[in-house]
Amino acid sequence: MGSAIESLLSNDSLKIPKHIAIICDGNGRWAKSKGFPRSFGHKAGTKPIKDITKACSELGVKVLTLYVFSTENWNRSDKEVNFLMKLFIEFFIKLRNEAGKNIKVKHIGITDNLSSELINEIRKTEKSTENNSGMILNIALNYGSRLEIIAAAKKIIHDIDIGIFNIDKVNENLFNEYIFTSGLPDVDLIIRTSGEMRISNFLLWQSAKAELWVTNDFWPDFRYDHLKEAIKYYNKI
Ligand code: IPE
Ligand code: IPE
Ligand code: MG
Repeated sequence: MGSAIESLLSNDSLKIPKHIAIICDGNGRWAKSKGFPRSFGHKAGTKPIKDITKACSELGVKVLTLYVFSTENWNRSDKEVNFLMKLFIEFFIKLRNEAGKNIKVKHIGITDNLSSELINEIRKTEKSTENNSGMILNIALNYGSRLEIIAAAKKIIHDIDIGIFNIDKVNENLFNEYIFTSGLPDVDLIIRTSGEMRISNFLLWQSAKAELWVTNDFWPDFRYDHLKEAIKYYNKI
């Protein structure tokens, strides 16, 4: 992987996206294609995360956001949802152990309907990595963009009501402060695996000007080469 990064970086004029957001899709189809149950696909879907996080961090990406569970995903079978929720507990523990002194892990989304055990692991991971100096890794879990925008609008209305500022102060910069990604740069590049040309309620506000790169490969098969292709696409090369 090291040499692949070097060869990509040897291009002096290469632009590295500040914020890359990935819709990690296709775990179920990956499993099906191998004759495994969907749960195997979800488990396999946790594997690429370490290398991709490391690669993004080494490339100088400031924020990597991974979409792992949407507010719409509660509509899946209880069995699948329960499996995923257990997996996320292990996942946050693993993230905490692997973050080292570099990666700052954050959760974006809502905690409604998440178990107290999962919320606890999320908070512990955020806390133990909050002083890390490197890339921010946002995990979008129980995330929905419309819900985020409505929550922001409500908070703004509330702050106007109690006199913190006047309605004339509401602009894009102010709105940015009220969403889950407050303080972070806009999304420059969205990557989606598994071929779907859909946004699926992901970072609608933040990705207003983002490039979109889609691969037909399933998320568990996502590798550095895919990331490289996406960054090349972003650079129009
Ligand atoms: C993405 O893979 C993971 C989650 C949404 C939790 P899917 O589970 O959507 O896999 P496909 O799209 O059915 O193949
Ligand atoms: C989007 O994938 C959400 C995540 C990858 C977490 P879905 O599989 O849930 O999206 P749709 O249903 O194809 O739009
Ligand atoms: Mg899917």
